[in-house]
Amino acid sequence: MANQNLGNAKTAKNDEFYTQFSDVEKEMNAYLEYDENVFRDKIILLPCDDPEWSNFTKYFAQNFKKLGLKKLISTSYAPNSKPVDFDLQPSLFEQESPQFDKDKSFQNGRIFILDSDTNGDGKTDVQDLTWDYLEGDGDFRSEELKALRDQSDFIITNPPFSLFREFLAWVAEVNKKFVLIGNKNAITYKEAFPLIMRNEMWIGSTPMSQDILFRVPDKMATELVENGKEGSKWRRVDGTVFARSSSIWFTSLDHGRRHQPLSLMTENDNIKFSKHKEIKGVGYKKFDNYDAIEIPFTDAIPSDYPGLMGVPISFLSKYNPDQFEILGTSDNGLVDDAFKTTPGLSQKFVDDYYAAGGKGAYQAGNPTAGIYEKGIARMVYKRH
Ligand SMILES: C[S@@+](CC[C@H](N)C(=O)[O-])C[C@H]1O[C@@H](n2cnc3c(N)ncnc32)[C@H](O)[C@@H]1O
Repeated sequence: MANQNLGNAKTAKNDEFYTQFSDVEKEMNAYLEYDENVFRDKIILLPCDDPEWSNFTKYFAQNFKKLGLKKLISTSYAPNSKPVDFDLQPSLFEQESPQFDKDKSFQNGRIFILDSDTNGDGKTDVQDLTWDYLEGDGDFRSEELKALRDQSDFIITNPPFSLFREFLAWVAEVNKKFVLIGNKNAITYKEAFPLIMRNEMWIGSTPMSQDILFRVPDKMATELVENGKEGSKWRRVDGTVFARSSSIWFTSLDHGRRHQPLSLMTENDNIKFSKHKEIKGVGYKKFDNYDAIEIPFTDAIPSDYPGLMGVPISFLSKYNPDQFEILGTSDNGLVDDAFKTTPGLSQKFVDDYYAAGGKGAYQAGNPTAGIYEKGIARMVYKRH
């Protein structure tokens, strides 16, 4: 029980990662470059946002006119509902507003709306944001938030890390356009991969290999520094501590990189000239349980290979739907009908794998991609 609580507290902390302005701006610029009118006359909902200090709200409010938005709605989650203790106090801005209510401040979520020139200064900008308390706590799963979702054209946010699956399902069930930040591992979730396969969702413009760093509440920054060395969990940039969590953008908005063909060498040229020792002079190996060849690096995809290939996750950053078709993922066996015929790992392969000292729990029929390398059975991590 104690461990369970500790686990919950840990994931809930990841829920309080705040996106930097430059990351939001860079990503949105890619969609605007592709279609400068993408947001024109649209209603944008930014749920799971703390509008007073969220850079999503700031970006869209500042660019309200330039983007030609019809309405911006941003909502936050009640401090009392957050499963973390950050000693969140109402801001001066909130306390000085006529609608300030001490109880509601902790128990209710808030809603910020920008849709017209409320202060009459001739322009619609951040200064015209109006706010109020929500009826409930701002949980995206509430009827109140569902109603806001249903009236919006776009849903854009970095949702709570621990609820990403649910959040994605919440967005997908109404078929709205979206731009979300999520963990790289979410790619192979059963809620996510089918959307990727059907080209209803793809990776955003920011390359998957690029680190996204997040602002965190001061107390959490102190804890991060106290609990571990700078590196995988946190980084210090210009004196500020940022949290890391190998995150990427997931979206259904088009961007240019998605339509750039990946330039590749032929199979023969790869064997002759590849910079990878695994390919040069060696060639491509077939999986034990898929009628496909193993591609250890995206740039080693042979341009003239007509059959099925198993590529690493990082391929999705380069994926152009006009050039390739995604048939499935070996991670959880989510495959389309053409590929469903895989019998999974053979008993012999599993036996050979354990005989060679392999670890983990694999059984015959498992969809994980297996390969013999120099006669030794080895599992290949997440291939698509
Ligand atoms: C990862 S943070 C991101 C905040 C902001 N969107 C940003 O990117 O800067 C997620 C936010 O969602 C809030 N949250 C957690 N659970 C929620 C829920 N069930 N419904 C709505 N918001 C929630 C968290 O408290 C946190 O403020």
